[in-house]
Amino acid sequence: MDNYVRIFDTTLRDGEQSPGASLDSAEKLEIARQLARLGVDIMEAGFPAASPGDAEAVRRIAMEVGNSRDGTRAPVIAGLARANRNDIDTAWESVRYAAHPRIHTFLATSDIHLKHKLKMTREQVVERVGEMVAYAKRYCDDIEFSPEDAGRSDPEFLYQVLEVAIKAGATTLNIPDTVGYTMPEEFGALIAGIVKHTPGADRVAISVHCHNDLGLATANTLAGIRAGARQAEVTMNGIGERAGNTSLEEVVMSLQTRNSFFGLRTGIDTTQIARTSRLVSNYTSIPIQPNKAIVGANAFAHEAGIHQDGMLKHHLTYEIMRPETVGVAQSNLVLGKHSGRHALQARLTELGYQMNDKDLAQAFARFKELADKKKVVTDADLVALVADEFYQPPEIFAMEDIQVTCGRHGMPTATVRLRGPDRQSIVQAAVGTGPVDAVYKAIDTIVQAPNTLVEYNVHAVTEGIDALGEVTVRLQSQDQESRTVGGHGADTDIIVASAKAYMAALNKLLAKEDRILATSTVERSAEYQDTIR
Ligand code: KIV
Ligand code: ZN
Repeated sequence: MDNYVRIFDTTLRDGEQSPGASLDSAEKLEIARQLARLGVDIMEAGFPAASPGDAEAVRRIAMEVGNSRDGTRAPVIAGLARANRNDIDTAWESVRYAAHPRIHTFLATSDIHLKHKLKMTREQVVERVGEMVAYAKRYCDDIEFSPEDAGRSDPEFLYQVLEVAIKAGATTLNIPDTVGYTMPEEFGALIAGIVKHTPGADRVAISVHCHNDLGLATANTLAGIRAGARQAEVTMNGIGERAGNTSLEEVVMSLQTRNSFFGLRTGIDTTQIARTSRLVSNYTSIPIQPNKAIVGANAFAHEAGIHQDGMLKHHLTYEIMRPETVGVAQSNLVLGKHSGRHALQARLTELGYQMNDKDLAQAFARFKELADKKKVVTDADLVALVADEFYQPPEIFAMEDIQVTCGRHGMPTATVRLRGPDRQSIVQAAVGTGPVDAVYKAIDTIVQAPNTLVEYNVHAVTEGIDALGEVTVRLQSQDQESRTVGGHGADTDIIVASAKAYMAALNKLLAKEDRILATSTVERSAEYQDTIR
């Protein structure tokens, strides 16, 4: 048992299953590139059988990210497949272009799933696992098998299934706590039992994959690692089905910060964590809770006087890791309206954004606009500004102008001017219950994409009355697909930020490619409930 823990990132598969997190293939590709920079060993790029859009996104990632260009080892690119021939064929067709492809196949093993979902006997499950792992092995050396709902499966039955998977050629056995049910001691004991009692377990990698339904995903993952697992399946910011998956940053920083306790290491470049976290949050439009460990806005903030006093005396008093270690830049440099392009570029580089001249010019124009309204432009402002300007879907409709009148006794009225797909400007006015409602109604009349606003959040990026407001929205389409999409926008005027966020979400809803990918999300959740035939 060596001391290296492989990091298997499933942000683009399990993470993308978060409601409303559907990503288009360009966004997936950019996240995949950043995950490679972060140094993940394996990335699960998607579930190719879920839809043609998913298959295409995995194929593009396999081709571009799965083949190293700078001499470093390219990450393994994995594709998920249920234990049937069609899924395995489709997964292989997508991952085969990577230098190191992996097929990840799964079949449930808990009695609850066997009885109510699969309607299969234990004997049938054992037989199917042997057959399908062997089938996948004909394509690819690197095969991962997961007994779904292992956390609620009979351990003796698991040993039997896993032995068959090993004999059929599995090289990694991933043990999922699919519904986040187990306690750390239990999960650790389950992994220890598998290591001890599964014939051949010493020849394969044991992996852990935990969900966070009881808030124990990281604790369970670490318990599994302590018991002998050497691969951890994680997502950035802990996004994923229901309460999410184990978060990458928590596991990696636990192993690193408490190295004397674990004696283990990973290949992650931790200075890329903050950047990856922001990218995932921007593209999925899933905000990060301020007190989220490692990547939350307050993770390194010290509020209480006693703490601030301690920090001034020595950072070790209240700080167990340095913010720079995870890529949170600490700077005394203050940007304002007299700052030039070079100062902005230097700051953006420190924050992890490498920009070409064109993008920098665009960012500089936005920065100047902001600096005219706001005395001090902080790092948080820059991060919000970059997200607002660059991490947006292609514009089918673009906002050209917006005017709002509102007040206590008036009728909130908005006039908006949008540029349509044919590049014509369209002007529309509407009255609403409030200014945001009026703006959204005016936009709806032009765009004609019926939807329900299921979530609306606004928060100030920094303190102070002149702060940038950041708005995230989530919409559900009112067609048969009932898709959920997210959008975000930032501006010193929160009505403008609200309009930007709404337009971003509508553009996602309208995008053709996105339609394919999002259909896959709908199909996928239905398929997970289905019997696997
Ligand atoms: O949670 C789970 O069981 C999964 C499997 C497909 C590995 O995501
Ligand atoms: Zn999962």
